[in-house]
Amino acid sequence: MVGKPMVGKYLARSGLAIMAFLAAGVAFYSLRYYGALTDSWFDVDTDIHAVIMQVPVRALTHMLIAPVALLLGPFQFFPGLRSKYPKVHRWSGRVYVAACVVAGIGGLATSPSASGGPVAGLGFGILAVLWVATTLGAWRAAVARQFALHRLLMRFSYAMTFRAVTLRLQIPVGFAMGFASYSAMSVWLAYTSWVPNVIVVALYSMTEPLRRPVVPATV
Ligand code: HEM
Repeated sequence: MVGKPMVGKYLARSGLAIMAFLAAGVAFYSLRYYGALTDSWFDVDTDIHAVIMQVPVRALTHMLIAPVALLLGPFQFFPGLRSKYPKVHRWSGRVYVAACVVAGIGGLATSPSASGGPVAGLGFGILAVLWVATTLGAWRAAVARQFALHRLLMRFSYAMTFRAVTLRLQIPVGFAMGFASYSAMSVWLAYTSWVPNVIVVALYSMTEPLRRPVVPATV
């Protein structure tokens, strides 16, 4: 059969839909940080509250803009949307890149104040630099019409953006493991929230040629 096998297509689409659903959930949950602008702290962790009080502009620039990238990202990967509405893909891509760069710089500037201390700050700092560099590289590749490189780098970029979801999923696991607070587990979360995502994307991309259907030779 020529083309992607149906099962593979179904799995890929379901994966994207689940990714979009989780990303939207975490992005909308982050709206509560708008309350900080009016000194209302509904459901904001006390350690994060302290970080915002310490560096309000940097932290809120990060926390209010990063969710835009998180929300838009998954739709860029739906092949149907991309091919049917290329203009939407391009504009949404520009907003995604701008959100990553601004939120990444905000994240980098916040990292020395991370509630988990310097080791956590280092993890967030490395992540911020890689996030901004990968996203800008992906954008430049698109402008240069190097679409294979663009696709690859955007996968890595979103693996890092999706760290917001992985982190949220890991927090209850951390409490179940006996960590007393968010800041106590933050030393780990600063790495475990994104390194596995990057490894998954690397493995997925390296094994991609194996999943390509073999086109029967025509004589
Ligand atoms: C990928 C690069 C990212 C970096 C370098 C980064 C960096 C940081 C840092 C340093 C903090 C303070 C954490 C602490 O004190 O322990 C933080 C918190 C936060 N970040 Fe990010 N972050 C990134 C991605 C994202 C994304 C994509 C979102 C989208 C929702 C996001 C939303 C938040 C929020 C809402 C907080 C407050 C804590 C929470 O409720 O989870 N971050 N981030």
